[in-house]
Amino acid sequence: MLKKGGGNIKLAFITSNQHKYFEARQVLSSWNIDLYMVDSVKLEVQDEEIENISRTAAIYAYNVLKKPLIVEDSGLFIEALNGFPGPFSSYAHKTIGNEGILRLLSGESNRKAYFKASVTCVCNEFVMTFNGLVYGTISMEPKGDKGFGFDPIFVPKGFDKTFSELGEDVKNKISHRSKAFTELAMWLSQSRNL
Ligand code: IMP
Repeated sequence: MLKKGGGNIKLAFITSNQHKYFEARQVLSSWNIDLYMVDSVKLEVQDEEIENISRTAAIYAYNVLKKPLIVEDSGLFIEALNGFPGPFSSYAHKTIGNEGILRLLSGESNRKAYFKASVTCVCNEFVMTFNGLVYGTISMEPKGDKGFGFDPIFVPKGFDKTFSELGEDVKNKISHRSKAFTELAMWLSQSRNL
């Protein structure tokens, strides 16, 4: 059961990514939601929709853990590459990395891209999925030394620095992940049935 009323809500975050965990924890702490990290039951599935990936992995983890939990899946969608790497972002980052993405875009003037995060929460009989997007552009070269993944090459709209240069205090206010987790927090705090 989720703890409501006197105590904070407690949720397991099924992930092995410390960056994702700290970002989500920072967003949810202001909503009296406590996250704890569980990195043992993440099912890696492939699908063209990241919503389906987070939902499938969350339902699998719930059947194993039987505790209220969330799973997040995210990706970088680049317009000039028809949305690649999208749901394959983790694999693309491991294989071609930021330099590979910049090579694919060399000579390309359309640098538009967005990050999308999909968070699925399973608690009691509810399975709820929330999405968050942040629009921006791919830089000409990697910049900054903070964050993870594609942070050094993603410049969010309205800024002239990459996520890596901006650092977590700025990123966590505007990121795809913080938007998806804020939607989740609003739903949890409004729901009377938990
Ligand atoms: P997954 O959600 O674990 O499948 O991983 C998605 C991949 O997208 C990560 O491994 C990163 O390479 C990339 N990614 C997702 N969110 C972010 C972000 O906030 N910053 C930088 N890269 C990200």
